[in-house]
Amino acid sequence: MSKKLISVTINGRTHESAVEPRTLLVHYLREELNLTGAHIGCETSHCGACTVDVDGQSIKSCTHLAVQCDGSDVLTVEGLANKGVLHAVQEAFYEEHGLQCGFCTPGMLVRSYRLLQENPNPTEDEIRIGISGNLCRCTGYQNIIKAVQSAARKLQESSTTAA
Ligand code: FES
Ligand code: FES
Repeated sequence: MSKKLISVTINGRTHESAVEPRTLLVHYLREELNLTGAHIGCETSHCGACTVDVDGQSIKSCTHLAVQCDGSDVLTVEGLANKGVLHAVQEAFYEEHGLQCGFCTPGMLVRSYRLLQENPNPTEDEIRIGISGNLCRCTGYQNIIKAVQSAARKLQESSTTAA
């Protein structure tokens, strides 16, 4: 199959790659760029383990083609921390113990990041709905909800301090 040249900005860095039209974004990230944070769970858009951010939207990378990202801006879990400093969402999941086995965590973090960009002060119901595309088999979600609430507070405090 003939390959197509794509140019994608991932976590602030532009990558030019020749990919087969059938290559899924999650395979491109994991196998070609060694960005293995996005996990492969169901491969049918159900579990959210593969969630990344494409042009400001949460995307299930197991059902998105790499060629669809030509010219796009992609954020993966590897891009959340800045120069070794955890993002507020990561810090909050750590502090609130919003994980157990960790399989869902990269997707949860990237989805929670986008949720808080869209709605900086979500209610508990809005958080539950916002992460409903991301399944967790371990935690019962309670600590994940607490983590997102804590991340929201942290982001609000940092924006107040910066203002
Ligand atoms: S692996 Fe993509 S949604 Fe489950
Ligand atoms: S922490 Fe195990 S699936 Fe969520």
